[in-house]
Amino acid sequence: MSEPEPSARAHRVLVVDDERNVHVALARQLKVDPYEVFTAESSDEALQLLGKHTFAVIVADYLMPKMNGIDLLAITQKLYPDTVRILFTAYNEANIAIEAINKGGIYRYIIKPWNGKEIRAIIREAVDRFQLAAINRKLFDLTKVQNQALLEKTKEIELKNRALKKLYEESNLNYLKSIEIFSSLLEVFDPWLMQHAKRVAELARLVCAKLDLEEKDRNHVEFSALLHDLGLIGLPKILSRKKFSLCSEDEKRLIKQHSQIGQNLVGKDPKFSTVAAIIRSHHERYDGKGWPDGLAGEDIPFGARIVAVIDAYDSLLYPANIYDRSSPESVKGYLYNSRGTRFDPRIVDTFLLALAEHGEITERGLIPVDQLRSQEEDLFT
Ligand SMILES: [Fe+2]
Repeated sequence: MSEPEPSARAHRVLVVDDERNVHVALARQLKVDPYEVFTAESSDEALQLLGKHTFAVIVADYLMPKMNGIDLLAITQKLYPDTVRILFTAYNEANIAIEAINKGGIYRYIIKPWNGKEIRAIIREAVDRFQLAAINRKLFDLTKVQNQALLEKTKEIELKNRALKKLYEESNLNYLKSIEIFSSLLEVFDPWLMQHAKRVAELARLVCAKLDLEEKDRNHVEFSALLHDLGLIGLPKILSRKKFSLCSEDEKRLIKQHSQIGQNLVGKDPKFSTVAAIIRSHHERYDGKGWPDGLAGEDIPFGARIVAVIDAYDSLLYPANIYDRSSPESVKGYLYNSRGTRFDPRIVDTFLLALAEHGEITERGLIPVDQLRSQEEDLFT
């Protein structure tokens, strides 16, 4: 366990000189300042003290028996690099100074006898230097720790992101796979019904874009449009193409079950709960006269209000019997006249605008608008 850092007013200074009177005199002068001054009479004793305490400054005499001051400061530099090193000597020789700088990495070189005021100023500067080095080291260590923590956090987030992405991809893949399976069922049951579903889904995509819906909501509406009549596969095939107006009351009751059958088929997986709810309500009317729940206005799921408009448009344009087809103009007229009764006015307006912008079928000679009212009954309502 490392020794606690001394406070700013208690930095330690180590004076090393084999001449006792010298280090005692120097220590006395330094004690004027708020330092904790230690003295040693040899390099060995100094190294023992260095091993026990953290020193801000070491002042070593050059000429000492066994190990001179330069060698002591060289070891100090290696073992305690933050301790600021000062050499003092009675010899004013350049080669000593050069060796002290090169070998001991000293901060200052002082010639005996020293001036008390001057040496105290030097020690103060050395202590400041030690404090600065300590602060820098702390900041460096702190940055290192923070960088490491940041690196680990980044790695952790990357791993989580990768796992989430994989999960999302798998879940999306399963979701799309399920849509594909449901579509195949409809296709096998009745290819004509599947063609209708594809056209409705395509137009639904246009309307959603026009309404600026979020990607997730667009997908829900598009998939619902594709699967809105899936429930018909649970009924006798002949009913899916039979004109609703020609059906018996029992047949009508059966046909009206297809939205709930579709909801039950798709809604078994919670991921499809929104799609299932839209399928259930795609025959609701804006005025509350639809089925199966008689919902009205905003109570009808938004996606179901979109599917209802496009389903009616496509069913009137492409009925099972080609001779029952209506002209695009008459169908649009019918949709417009049903704003607020059968359909959500906002959806009708958006749909008609989308059709105008994206082009439309321009076939002529189909059923005129005034005959369309008689066909309304064939919209299963
Ligand atoms: Fe339907």
